[in-house]
Amino acid sequence: MKASEIREKFLKFFESKQHQRIKSASLIPHNDPTVLFTTAGMQQFKPYYTGQADPMKDFGSMNTVSVQKCVRTSDIDEVGDETHLTFFEMLGNFSFGGYWKQEAIAYAHEFITKELELKIDYVSVFKGDDETPGDSESRNIWSKIDPSLTIKDHDRKDNFWGPTGDEGPCGPTTEIYINGVEIWNIVFNEYFKTKDGKYTPLETKGIDTGMGLERLLVQVQKKNNVYETDIFEDFIKSLPNDILLNKKRILADHVRAMSFMICDGVRPSNKGAGYILRRLMRRILAQFSFEVVQQGIEWCVSKYPDLKLEEIKKVVDDEWKQFTVALNSGLKELNKLEKIDSETAFRLYSSYGLPVDVIKDKFPDFDSKAFNKEFEKHQDLSRTASAGQFKGGLASHSEKVVRLHTTTHLMNAALRKVLGDQVMQKGSNITEERTRFDFNSDAKLTDEQKKEVESLVNNWILADLSVKKEIMSIEEARKLNAVGAFGEKYSDTVSIYTIFDPKTDKVVSREFCGGPHVEHTGVIGKFKIQKEEAVSAGVRRIKAIIE
Ligand code: SER
Repeated sequence: MKASEIREKFLKFFESKQHQRIKSASLIPHNDPTVLFTTAGMQQFKPYYTGQADPMKDFGSMNTVSVQKCVRTSDIDEVGDETHLTFFEMLGNFSFGGYWKQEAIAYAHEFITKELELKIDYVSVFKGDDETPGDSESRNIWSKIDPSLTIKDHDRKDNFWGPTGDEGPCGPTTEIYINGVEIWNIVFNEYFKTKDGKYTPLETKGIDTGMGLERLLVQVQKKNNVYETDIFEDFIKSLPNDILLNKKRILADHVRAMSFMICDGVRPSNKGAGYILRRLMRRILAQFSFEVVQQGIEWCVSKYPDLKLEEIKKVVDDEWKQFTVALNSGLKELNKLEKIDSETAFRLYSSYGLPVDVIKDKFPDFDSKAFNKEFEKHQDLSRTASAGQFKGGLASHSEKVVRLHTTTHLMNAALRKVLGDQVMQKGSNITEERTRFDFNSDAKLTDEQKKEVESLVNNWILADLSVKKEIMSIEEARKLNAVGAFGEKYSDTVSIYTIFDPKTDKVVSREFCGGPHVEHTGVIGKFKIQKEEAVSAGVRRIKAIIE
C-alpha cells in the first residue's frame, strides 16, 4: 500500500465514523506565537478544545480528521539516521466533546488491525503520579477489546501530553507500539492546567490523536526505515553512488522540508522560521551540487503535486547565488583543516556563512557549546560596537541595512565608473527595504547605463571582495583619493572603508564612512535598481534593493 493510499484510507475510515475531513493547515501557524512551525495536527484546532470556537458551527460536526504537514526541529541533528525527519505528515482524528476514550481506542484498534492488518506489539497507558491519577479507564477498555494484549504502564514523560504553552488543555495518553516502535499517540484532553500548575477538569473533554505517516509506512510496507518507503526510495536510489548513505538521507529530508516551507511562504532570513529554512538550505547547498539539489526538488514536486516547482526553484536559486561564493571559500578552508577549535569554527561561520551543521558533518565531535559561547561573545562585542563607535550613522544596524549600506558604496563606485568621476553623493537613506541614493547628474540614466551599473555591482558582489576599515589622517585619506563629503566637519582622523579584491589588492571603492559594513561582499545578495528619477535640478535619485 502506497503513501497516497494510506492517507485516503485513514481519511475515509474516520469519515465513515462521522468525522469531517479538514485540510492540512499551513506549516506557519496562525495566531500562535508559541511555536515557529505547525508541529502537530491538533494545533489548528486549539480553540475548539478550550471552547473558544464552536466545531458544529465551523465544521458541522464535533469530530474532525486530517493529514497535517508538520515540521519539528528539535531532532534536526538526528536526521540521517533511520527514523528522524524534519518534515513529516501526521494522520489525526479529533473530537471536541463528541466521543471519548471507548470510541477513540476502539477506532484506533480497528484501523490498525482490520484496515491495515498490522499486529500490535503492545500498548501503553499513563500510570499516574502525584499530580494526576493513572488512567485505569483506558487500561480496562484495551483489555476488553483484546484480552491477550500487553498493556504497559508508562510515566508522565511518555504518556501525558501538554499543555503546549504555559497553560492549556492536557491529559493522559495511550500509545500503540508495533515492532517496538511508537506508532500512534492518542491524547485524552481532560484537564486544563493553569499557569500556577493546577489541574482542573475540562468542561468539554477532547480527543487528539497523531500518527506519523512515514513511520507507519515502514510497518505497512515492511521496510527497515523511512527512506526505504515509497516516498523516498526511488529518489535515494537515483542519487550518485559516491554520496554516502546518511548524506543522501539528509538531502532527501532537507529538500522536502525546504520545499514545503517555501510553498507556505517562508523565505530564508536570519530569524525565526526563516532562519530554520536558511539553515536547511545552506546545509545542502554547501554539500551537494546544484544539479543534485534540483533533482531533489523535482522529486518532491512529483510526490507532492501541490508543491510549486517554479517558486521553490527561484528561492533556492537566489539563496544559492547569494552564498555560493562565500561558501566555497569557507569550504576550501574547512577541507584543509585536520582539527577545529571553536574560534576557527566561528570565523568560518561569521566570515563565510559556513553553516555549523557543515562543520559538524566534517568534525562530528566538534564542541558546539564552545562555539555558542564564541557566538555570544561576538554578539556582545557587536552590540558594544554599534552602541558606541557607529552612533549617529545609520538609523538601524540590522543585518539587512548593513548589507544595503555596503551595496550603496558599490553603487556609488559603479556610477562613477559609468558616468564619470564628477559624480558625487548628494544624500542617502537606507531602510530595511531599500537604499536611496542621490547624486549629481544632468541626465536621466539610460536603460543601458542602468544595466551596466547593476552588472558592475553584481559582479563585485559575486567576486566576494573584502571590506576593510582604517582610521587615518585627513591628508592620508585625500592622498588615497577617498570619496566623501570633504566639506563637512570631520575630526583630524577619519574612518575610511575600502572595498578591494584580496587576490590583486585592486581597490573598487574607498569612502569616508562611519560604517558599519559587511566583511566581504559575497553575503550581500542580488542587487537591483528599482527606480531612477529626478529630485531637483541636476540631482538624480536611485532606489535600489537587494534580494
Ligand atoms: N498532539 C499529539 C502529538 O503530537 C497527538 O496528536 O503526538
